[in-house]
Amino acid sequence: MRPSISTLAVVLLTGSFSSLCHASEIQIQADTELQRKPNIVLILTDDQDVGTLQRRFLPNIFDKLVDHGVSYDNFFAPVSVCCPSRVSLLRAQYAHNHNVTFVSRPWGGWEIFNEYNYVNHTLADFVQNAGYSTWYTGKLMNGHTVDNCERLPVSGFNSSDFLVDPYTYDYWNPAFSRDNGPAILHPNTYSTDLVKEKALKYLQQASRSDQPFFLTVAPIGPHSWITSNGREPDLNHPHMEIPAAAPRHATLFPTEQIPRTDSFNPDRAGGVSWVKHLPQANATVEAYWDEFYRGRLRALQAIDELVDAVVDQLDKIEQLDNTYIFYTSDNGYAIGSHRRQPGKTLGYEEDIHVPLIVRGPGVPLGLRDDVSSWGMVDLSKTIMKLTGAQADYVDDGRQIDLHQEKATMGDLVDTRSEITPLTSNAKHAISEYWVLGAEEGVFAAYRTVRVHHETEIKGYGPLTYSYSVWCTGERELYNLKKDPHQINNLLASLNSVGRFAPFDTLDGEDRPLIDGELQRILHRLDALMLVLKTCQGTICADPYSELLPPRYQQSDHATGFAALLDRDLDKYFARLPKVHFKECALGYHRALEQPEWDSRWATKWSSSSSSSSSSPEQSHLQVVLQSENWEA
Ligand SMILES: *[C@@H]1O[C@H](CO)[C@@H](O)[C@H](O)[C@H]1NC(C)=O
Ligand SMILES: *[C@@H]1O[C@H](CO)[C@@H](O)[C@H](O)[C@H]1NC(C)=O
Ligand SMILES: *[C@@H]1O[C@H](CO)[C@@H](O)[C@H](O)[C@H]1NC(C)=O
Ligand SMILES: *[C@@H]1O[C@H](CO)[C@@H](O)[C@H](O)[C@H]1NC(C)=O
Repeated sequence: MRPSISTLAVVLLTGSFSSLCHASEIQIQADTELQRKPNIVLILTDDQDVGTLQRRFLPNIFDKLVDHGVSYDNFFAPVSVCCPSRVSLLRAQYAHNHNVTFVSRPWGGWEIFNEYNYVNHTLADFVQNAGYSTWYTGKLMNGHTVDNCERLPVSGFNSSDFLVDPYTYDYWNPAFSRDNGPAILHPNTYSTDLVKEKALKYLQQASRSDQPFFLTVAPIGPHSWITSNGREPDLNHPHMEIPAAAPRHATLFPTEQIPRTDSFNPDRAGGVSWVKHLPQANATVEAYWDEFYRGRLRALQAIDELVDAVVDQLDKIEQLDNTYIFYTSDNGYAIGSHRRQPGKTLGYEEDIHVPLIVRGPGVPLGLRDDVSSWGMVDLSKTIMKLTGAQADYVDDGRQIDLHQEKATMGDLVDTRSEITPLTSNAKHAISEYWVLGAEEGVFAAYRTVRVHHETEIKGYGPLTYSYSVWCTGERELYNLKKDPHQINNLLASLNSVGRFAPFDTLDGEDRPLIDGELQRILHRLDALMLVLKTCQGTICADPYSELLPPRYQQSDHATGFAALLDRDLDKYFARLPKVHFKECALGYHRALEQPEWDSRWATKWSSSSSSSSSSPEQSHLQVVLQSENWEA
């Protein structure tokens, strides 16, 4: 079906800001005498939103990982769809730099990955070059098929066993390509159990060598079930069904329901673009959604067992104390929120917010980090740092503070109820999206930035905002502190005025549609998005230094978003060009997303330009702005 509604969005999320506690003690796992570099085990699930991460659903994951490591409250998919997110993991790059923006041609998939010459230049290659043996079992990415798995070999692994299309999502009829060989079908075998067995064998094999190892285990759960019914599933018109459980889990959670938050199938439509036109679902549909949700929880059970088995196996081969185990997912998932059918591809919390848990040498036990904010690109960079690997291009990642060395904290928690303040300079994460909203058959693209800053900001307190700009000219702003389910778009009135309405637009009685204080924040959020939407390398990690005029630079980047709120900078931020799209289109086209951030806008600004008299710097700034020919 040809898409008819165009929607391109940029979403910016800001985090919360709260007070610091001073340290008591961090319990750190005994540092064993390390004979060799640490091993890495990465468990990557498919479409697992953070809402499923609960002890009563996933007891082994809590016992074996959460209680023995750090859980990150703010971890985000760089793109809320599998393939681009997985490429960000393999490349430590944002999608605006790797340009794999969808699951299929011409925007993404395994063949496009090859055409971009990314083979031999992946995380696995770099880690292997750093002296590791490298292993992978499960799904790599979309478009890796029975037809191309031999012709287009995956690089960087000592051994690999990949699920391949069109059988990747067939829980009961998976096909695997081992060591880039021909695909082998496994009829009537539960996919996740096979992935588990393969992972355990790889650990056994890896332990026979003196080399440290890097194993990725990527089961398909809790992705929708795409059945083959004896024939090859047609992935261009996939029939997605409720995920299939192993028989031993098929009747669990008989009465579990999707939490009825205020965003669940609301009486009043919310959001923008196609989301605001979704019809309210009736009781039959709601019942189906609940069954779908139970299917996801059931499909996660085999993964919970897999985690248990992997940890036990590491123990058995005497490598548990020298192994970092990461648990995450490629993107999130939504059912029923904003009246949506099951799926992903939007910039809302359900879609982009995914689990990250880590345990390993020197990682505090049972700690919940709700202060810092990270994404998949950072996880990739962290694995490079831990293994001594290095990309052969400029990557965009930050190293995650696994050992919480920059942390000051109160008591460790073994329940997830208590807040454990930490400091960290990581206050934002970005997500991006282009091309199709898969289920809905409409264009969709956006960038998501999440700024997270739990420290008190003078005059603001801790704050958490989610800001989106769409190619339709609509914008979304949610105060996540007050409105965690993103029901009340603070910019709805602006959207009703027209495309990209100026923030200071007045109503019929000459009153601003958007309150002045909110406008100030909005100008900053937009500016941050402007920098991040084309950032590369260290600018992605520290957009604040890029954005602040020189005399406002602070040595302590931990201030993050707070530093932008200086009132002396009101004019500077108000005059910066706003994030803008010429039109909606399929794919990432820079020409349609002008202007792009220009660092001269910051460096040519001086504090005198904030007064009303026009200084040379100010006229220069204006010249720079005008020469960019950006539209209002
Ligand atoms: C990204 O890929 C698409 C599809 O090939 C292409 O049209 C677009 O120009 C590329 N964008 C960039 C920024 O390279
Ligand atoms: C990757 O590297 C291997 C080993 O050097 C080489 O044989 C292969 O042709 C390379 N593949 C690509 C696509 O460059
Ligand atoms: C893994 O592959 C690398 C590169 O081919 C090789 O140097 C290393 O010896 C292999 N390790 C194991 C354990 O097979
Ligand atoms: C509920 O909605 C579905 C989907 O629109 C429709 O097929 C079904 O007939 C409706 N059921 C009732 C009882 O109205």
